[in-house]
Amino acid sequence: MSVENVLVIGGAGYIGCHVVREFLDEGYRVTVFDNLSTGTRRNLFAEASFVHGDIMQTIRLREVMAEGFDGIVHLAALKAAGQSMVVPEAYTEANIGGTINILNSALAAGVPNMIFSSSAAIFGSPRYLPIDEDHPKEPENFYGFTKLEIERLMEWYDRLKGLKYASIRYFNAAGYDVQGRVDGLEMKPENLLPIVMETAVGLRKGMSVFGDDYQTPDGTCIRDYVHVSDLARAHVAAYKYLREHNQSFAVNLGSEKGVSVAELIDRAREITGREIPAAVGPRRPGDPAELVASSAAARKMLDWEPRYSDVNTLIDSTWQVYCRRYRIT
Ligand code: UFG
Repeated sequence: MSVENVLVIGGAGYIGCHVVREFLDEGYRVTVFDNLSTGTRRNLFAEASFVHGDIMQTIRLREVMAEGFDGIVHLAALKAAGQSMVVPEAYTEANIGGTINILNSALAAGVPNMIFSSSAAIFGSPRYLPIDEDHPKEPENFYGFTKLEIERLMEWYDRLKGLKYASIRYFNAAGYDVQGRVDGLEMKPENLLPIVMETAVGLRKGMSVFGDDYQTPDGTCIRDYVHVSDLARAHVAAYKYLREHNQSFAVNLGSEKGVSVAELIDRAREITGREIPAAVGPRRPGDPAELVASSAAARKMLDWEPRYSDVNTLIDSTWQVYCRRYRIT
């Protein structure tokens, strides 16, 4: 069988580069398309081709897709939920507009399928836990709304044009390649674990715990952290599923285990041996007390199991990257 050719849009980003790594490890040919706005050249692998381009440039997208691909993975998006409430226009343009450009280019070029990076943010505040695929979809931030709209668009493109899709709804992505092959750190991170790490290495004097008066055992928010390489493996499995069954689907992806903010910081102190000053501050608007996934569908359909999503591996694999970058021995 000839080697399959995959286009990874947003493949220089934090999650994207882990997805690229997984496809390369599985023997695929990979082309990365990225505008390097948040992604970095450090995240590019020599074995993959790279095209510097923006999803707003329709002509560029069409040129690239004309090379012929067996599938697309689309991870290029703005992703700060708080910011999406302040500048929704940027999110409409980049997330919805950009995806329309990709879908139309894919149709024009005859690319048969697309794996889409969706989010638990499409569900809004949980009505019940764990959150399965049938949970009501009532996003509470504009970012989540854009992801849900794209899922609906993809449904129509499938129905009308037969473009097959897999939508993978990430819970809290964390961790780094356990073999140390990725070392691009996110600049100005907004997520908990990189903020904990920046505090551990001394880039920040201290950090804030956003509220300790939630209805949870220790009062801090509970999240479902899933290792980025586990997420990446699900993309390859989803791609294989689409190729084999030619049937679109959406799955939730998390470790199915809840970890509180306080627990994560405590464990990071143990693993790093650093103090990590953390003061309790006010709640962050829009934060639900607890989010935990049901990944039963992914387990069943994709034969997927998390391998690296235990708290120790999540923290340690991240800490190793920070130690290398900041020369901590
Ligand atoms: N937190 C702090 N202090 C910080 C940063 C975060 O206490 O400095 C807390 C938050 O309040 C939250 C938890 O850590 O309780 C995790 O926060 P993140 O910002 O890392 O992640 P979120 O759960 O807010 O959101 C992430 C992604 C979203 C996705 C969601 C799905 O950023 O895109 O997971 O679960 F939709």
